Amino acid sequence: MNRNLAMEFVRVTEMAAIASARWMGRGDEKAADQAAVDAMRAMLDTVDCKGTVVIGEGERDEAPMLYIGEKVGTGNGPELDIALDPLEGTTVCAVGASNSISVMAIAEGGNFLNAPDTYMQKIAVGPEGKGVIDIMESPKENLRRLAEVKKCKVADLTVVILDRPRHEELIREVRDAGARIRLIGDGDVAASLACCDADSGVDMLLGTGGAPEGVIAAAALRCMGGDFQGILKFRSDEEIERAKKMGITDINKIYNIDELASGNVMFVATGVTEGTMLEGVKFKSYGATTQSIVMRSESGTIRHIDAEHRFDTKPRY
Ligand code: FBP
Repeated sequence: MNRNLAMEFVRVTEMAAIASARWMGRGDEKAADQAAVDAMRAMLDTVDCKGTVVIGEGERDEAPMLYIGEKVGTGNGPELDIALDPLEGTTVCAVGASNSISVMAIAEGGNFLNAPDTYMQKIAVGPEGKGVIDIMESPKENLRRLAEVKKCKVADLTVVILDRPRHEELIREVRDAGARIRLIGDGDVAASLACCDADSGVDMLLGTGGAPEGVIAAAALRCMGGDFQGILKFRSDEEIERAKKMGITDINKIYNIDELASGNVMFVATGVTEGTMLEGVKFKSYGATTQSIVMRSESGTIRHIDAEHRFDTKPRY
């Protein structure tokens, strides 16, 4: 994969972020998501590649564009699989809360798990925890192992968990283990990334969230040297049938990070609302500023890109 493509793709998330940030705090999730989808779709078609959306808006968000299987790009250039979420954390953006991002992961064909639109039980940690976590072990044991490699006490560790009734038991177990918890309303991709940032104050992500988001997070953690494991959690027989049609043969499989995102992957994300790792879009008299992260697994380089966008020289979103 040509490394310069990463810079092309960051333009895509920048535009999607600017477009959806216009809807921050306006209480309209659909409009915020639609704005991100439209901008991402338009910008993607300026990138020289033969792209296929493998993780997209899917059926869950019932978006008309960027659906799984959709072809994107100019049609010239490398064949790429694209996992995207134009606005990860639509509710977050609609209420003006923290950590909504526009995000894309890119790989050569066939390297992402074609995750069905269902849930996934997840565990994510930063580089120090690579190789020591086991999703089949209890939260207590995983925390013990992480504390050991981080040379700290379990009481020093903070676990991010989506604030959902389904996590009642998990929250109790983590509290019993003695760790601290940061409950989040939405956005477990940004939370997974935060595990790799020593300054985020977050050490581990546990719990069940969207399966497509799991693949995107795995791609990011591949680039950052972190670790991730996931198990698909189906809500109905219909979801299981759909997953089988998408090629999932073992519905109880434990996916390690490389099985979710293999080969050379790129990851790009731009902050929409202010967040732990990325600042949100700020509108100015001349246009807007954005903050993005661009990473490649091949080199392990992580670039932080601050951009000033002038609306007098480019389309106004
Ligand atoms: P959206 O961007 O689709 O709003 O997803 C936000 C999110 O919080 C994800 O980060 C997470 O994986 C998933 O939703 C959790 O799903 P649910 O809200 O159904 O618990």
